Amino acid sequence: MIIHPVKSIQGEINVPGDKSISHRAIMLGALSKGITNIKGFLMGEDCLSTIRCFRDMGIDIEVNDSLVTVNGRGLHGLKKPENELYVGNSGTTLRLMSGILAPQDFDCIITGDDSIKSRPMKRIIDPLTKMGANIVSIENNNKAPLKIIGSKLHNITHNSLVASAQVKSCIILASLYTENDTKIIEPVLSRNHTEIMLNYFGGNITTQGSTITSTPVKELYAKDINIPGDISSAAFFMVACLITKNSQLVIKNVGINPTRDGIITVLKAMNGDISLLNEREINGELVADIKVKSSKLTGTVIDKDIIPALIDEIPVIAVAACFAEGKTIIKDAQELKVKESNRIETMVTELSKMGADIIGTDDGMIISHSPNLRGATVKSYNDHRVAMSLAIAGLVAEGKTDINESECIDISFPGFYNSLQNISDL
Ligand code: S3P
Repeated sequence: MIIHPVKSIQGEINVPGDKSISHRAIMLGALSKGITNIKGFLMGEDCLSTIRCFRDMGIDIEVNDSLVTVNGRGLHGLKKPENELYVGNSGTTLRLMSGILAPQDFDCIITGDDSIKSRPMKRIIDPLTKMGANIVSIENNNKAPLKIIGSKLHNITHNSLVASAQVKSCIILASLYTENDTKIIEPVLSRNHTEIMLNYFGGNITTQGSTITSTPVKELYAKDINIPGDISSAAFFMVACLITKNSQLVIKNVGINPTRDGIITVLKAMNGDISLLNEREINGELVADIKVKSSKLTGTVIDKDIIPALIDEIPVIAVAACFAEGKTIIKDAQELKVKESNRIETMVTELSKMGADIIGTDDGMIISHSPNLRGATVKSYNDHRVAMSLAIAGLVAEGKTDINESECIDISFPGFYNSLQNISDL
């Protein structure tokens, strides 16, 4: 992908559907009785991997443009897949689906691409094993491929060491197949889309502070779902608009769930001119239009409790920080090291090539005001969010930015380049 500097960002856009909610809509639709029509589904590769896996387990899923219809077969309707389940690059598919597979009455193998095979799975193997699951890491390294031997599960209380919605959701999904309440205590409440959607489908999940209680129900019942735009995709345009002169943008229909909206809090704290319009609730999720104007940003400190609510947005926050007066310090974000790439290393290396004043630390980064970025040849390490963050930096750098390995953008944001063209002179 080649990016040239733009004069300004103007207009109104929609971003593709929320990735986390799209995965859950397929999974919970499959486990519910009846037909779930999903509008606004993200046709990104990760979510298509979830569709493929559930089709491999006998679920009839029709796709017409962005309308997806899932013919749910109930909690006990999945069939043994004939081959290995392949999740591609999708950690959410692997971790959430493991919770569904562990209590089935069949065995299967679940695997994915090289990035997936390098990501930590002990965080789900341990609690599932405590629930009575039989999971074997085939290479004996606590990573995928995993052989999951269907077993009878029981409830647990799990004190999670990381605030991870994938771990929490994995346990909640497994708990649907037990007889008593399961409790999960998180260090900080992570994104709660699973809880919201399960309750929407007739489940029984309650949350007090950062303790989640899942009470098993006999069945889930299908219901239509409208998926809002992904705030993690909107984040790229929010930052693009803030750091480009004479710009104003409205991003329509974006999910602003309070467990996901850390990007808005932080950009506002950095003096970003951001306002929310038409706030409303759709299927239990908060949604709004986000209005953004060019702003003179200032540095900030991002740490502790807010990290889970913006973990996927840190690469693009690093770009915004180059344009912020003073220093921006990001800490308590060790989880960045185990995402699609080690995002501390990859962002520091690639933004440095563009002249950013950025250093990596053990749990984050420190970025100093360095607004005179220059175009460079950079690469994404096949990490979609790294690729898009570098593209945003390229919009305000001097000269041409050439981003190698940019195809991975299709994982979460097909049409990213066209959207950029629609709001600028790119
Ligand atoms: C996700 C949870 C987060 C996030 C990922 C999607 C989800 O991962 O980074 O992109 O849909 O549950 P962790 O649970 O590993 O923090």
